[in-house]
Amino acid sequence: MSWKSFLEGVYALPSRVFFFDTTLRDGEQTPGVALRVEEKVMIAEALADLGVDVIEAGFAVVSKGEYESVKRISGLGLSAKICSLSRCEKRDIDAAVDTGCDWVHLFIATSELHMKYKLGMEREHVVERAVEMVEYAKSRGIVVHFSAEDATRSDPDFLMHIYKSVRDAGADSLDIPDTVGIALPHVMRSLVMRTKRETGLPVAVHCHDDMGLATANTLAGVEGGAEIVHVTVNGIGERAGNTSLEEVAVALKFLYGVETAINYEKIAKTSKLVARLTGIPIPKNKAVVGDNAFSHESGIHVHGVINNPATYEPIMPEQVGMSRRIIIGKHSGLHSIDTVLRQYGYVLAANEVKEVLNRVKEIADSGHKLGDQELLQIVNELLGSRIMRPVTLKGFQQITTESGDRCLAEFEVNGEMLRVEGVGNTPLESAIDASLKAFNNILGDIQLIGYSLFASPYEDRHPYEAEVVIKIDGNTIVGKGIGKTSGHTILNAMSSAVNQYLSILSRGIGR
Ligand code: KIV
Ligand code: ZN
Repeated sequence: MSWKSFLEGVYALPSRVFFFDTTLRDGEQTPGVALRVEEKVMIAEALADLGVDVIEAGFAVVSKGEYESVKRISGLGLSAKICSLSRCEKRDIDAAVDTGCDWVHLFIATSELHMKYKLGMEREHVVERAVEMVEYAKSRGIVVHFSAEDATRSDPDFLMHIYKSVRDAGADSLDIPDTVGIALPHVMRSLVMRTKRETGLPVAVHCHDDMGLATANTLAGVEGGAEIVHVTVNGIGERAGNTSLEEVAVALKFLYGVETAINYEKIAKTSKLVARLTGIPIPKNKAVVGDNAFSHESGIHVHGVINNPATYEPIMPEQVGMSRRIIIGKHSGLHSIDTVLRQYGYVLAANEVKEVLNRVKEIADSGHKLGDQELLQIVNELLGSRIMRPVTLKGFQQITTESGDRCLAEFEVNGEMLRVEGVGNTPLESAIDASLKAFNNILGDIQLIGYSLFASPYEDRHPYEAEVVIKIDGNTIVGKGIGKTSGHTILNAMSSAVNQYLSILSRGIGR
């Protein structure tokens, strides 16, 4: 679903939008976040891999660690341009240039409030300083991206005056920061249009989310012709945060039909990495990357999604590296129960599914939240030995050594014990290796297409949930598992997928 043809008649949309990612600078200014150099390097590599065009790696003059981070990241030879923030001061510009980065993001405040109470400078003095520092930065041979801090609370005529002055001094592009998130979409759109018309330079928008409008304001900036968007992964940043990369990226591609260099299927992976390293969890209901973004509970929705995911999903989860989850609860219907149980390797008769559903509703009505573990318990209680599951994980052990991880797993396969050993660089990898060895042994060629690991919403005993996608004999199968560790969970998910396949075989379907 794209509004491209409708929007094209109304706005002069840029043909390609460039992503200026400031996760490592404004994102790191999130209260309580402090990243080590190594962590910044990991995030920068992930951002380049994701396809952002510019990485604002830090504020080089601020500390030795910041300088070191910008320098290390500049030396990695990443595909993205590397940028350092800098006040309009020579020592800031020198620190930035000395790191070897490609861009300097020069800023000075232009609102009366900031000029009076923060800078203690008159308007013309601010313009003079900005011009002088742009000229200085250019003389040091670096690309200059100029921001008028608090632009949206600045006198628009004065704003145009400073933008034209820094353009004449050699600035390569301009940024309009909505520093305290007070812009409205139509304000941002017209501010961008005016800036472009009066300066002729490429324009960026840098929005904060104080009023929950960062994404809307950023997109309105693009409607006004902004070619560059400032974003952070998961929208982290000062106070309520910055514009979220994933929201803008998805809206640009799927709603506006505008080109970007983002590798969309890497969005979820990058989002998880940033959440892990910054310690800022992704809200469950966060657009695009939240756990609930592609989760469905209501029976009506699950039925629709099983028949055609587009009924209740605007984009496919795989397009952004996420996966679809069916959550069991009082709104569930027969399709949900049947689908989830199949993913756990249980293929039940219609009357058995109904029995399970009735029990689920009883429990949910009494106010209990049902996790997948409870669902499996219900199946065991109600159906016990009636259920057929040829493969069961009986035991596992994981050993971590200097040279890598080993996983010893024991499966019962149709009453016989099968012991395998897997190796890998992480416990998860060694568990995957062990299960592939076990099941290749039984079934022939099995390919692991992908997997996702989640924190389970309700379980204490089994804090992990995993989903694996495997291919056997031309069949693509999704298997789910719960477990105590990542490795244990993957072993269970792989067993589920294999059980599901075996039940398909025994019913002669899919061959
Ligand atoms: O929000 C802001 O104004 C900033 C500037 C440094 C551009 O982050
Ligand atoms: Zn900011």
